[in-house]
Amino acid sequence: MSNVENHILKDDSKNELITDRVFVREYLDKIPLNRQLSDQENADHESKIIALLIEKNTALIAHYYTDPLLQALADKTDGCVADSLEMARFGSTTSASSLMVCGVKFMGETAKILSPDKTVLMPTLEATCSLDIGCPIETFSAYCDQHSDHKVVVYANTSAEVKARADWVVTSAIAVAVVEHLLDQGEKIIWAPDKHLGRYIQNKLGAVGDDILLWDGACIVHEEFKLKALEDMKHLYPDAAVLAHPESPLAILNAADTVGSTTQIINAAVRRPEQKFIVATDSGIFYKLQQAAPEKEFIMAPTSGEGATCRSCAQCPWMGMNTLQNLYESLLEGSNEIHVDPKLGEQAMMPLQRMLDFKLIN
Ligand code: 13P
Ligand code: SF4
Repeated sequence: MSNVENHILKDDSKNELITDRVFVREYLDKIPLNRQLSDQENADHESKIIALLIEKNTALIAHYYTDPLLQALADKTDGCVADSLEMARFGSTTSASSLMVCGVKFMGETAKILSPDKTVLMPTLEATCSLDIGCPIETFSAYCDQHSDHKVVVYANTSAEVKARADWVVTSAIAVAVVEHLLDQGEKIIWAPDKHLGRYIQNKLGAVGDDILLWDGACIVHEEFKLKALEDMKHLYPDAAVLAHPESPLAILNAADTVGSTTQIINAAVRRPEQKFIVATDSGIFYKLQQAAPEKEFIMAPTSGEGATCRSCAQCPWMGMNTLQNLYESLLEGSNEIHVDPKLGEQAMMPLQRMLDFKLIN
């Protein structure tokens, strides 16, 4: 797992990250499934959480993939439900003194790096991401050292250490635009860790040779979308447009009508003329899709669970660890606080700030 060679994308593309997949499966097997709460328990938790958020001057920030109950609560309390870019921006601009970030670890870390003076809590510290796991700092840094003539552009789904090693951090909302901007300046790029998004960027920008070197990481949720099954579904729903997140395999992205971040997918559903959509991303997004375009129909893109690392495909197991119960406990006890070493945070702030500034001027 810590050998650089294991993480570099080979041309034969048969290279599966076997060690990482076994690691992810073992990790997930150890985590207990959440107990379903009754409606009464949910309502009790909600009212106690609302009171604590006010008492502790805390803003609730939730990703679109979290449980709809958490998204509804973030909306109701003037918090934020967003993609990872807007979560980062909201956390750094809100006047609240504390942030409760419902999502996965890199989102909490990003919030802390951008707001070192705020207390950042999460419902659980167990919620990570297969992209983050697949990009360990030691091997990644060694790889960057071997290609010191390349600018290092990393996806937000990485550890604080990997961000600190990077020249740029990007999210899916601006990945293509930032890489295009750098290629236009004559730069060569290391892209990490998502190979599918990396291939999409290469294709979109017509990058050749070693213009863009790809790290061999993947999202275990989006990797399960399968082209053959998608084509069969398109025959069933010929009037439907396909909306896909760029962490999906390139074959899915080539078959999609819109490719974009979670927010861009929601905007496309509102803007596009079609009434039906096949959606290739985590099923948590259906809550906001239905709110944003209630008159339209949304159909989950097909996945293949066989041999997969996911517990329930099209549902991120780590996002699913955020519940009303652990959110309440964390808020009450002030537990699950995110800490980032201040020096490391300062280093990681630079590429993150570039990301926020880039969006503002483009
Ligand atoms: P977005 O930035 O599009 O919200 O994606 C984050 C993520 O983890 C997708 O799997
Ligand atoms: Fe990571 Fe995929 Fe989960 Fe997003 S959906 S947090 S990329 S594992």
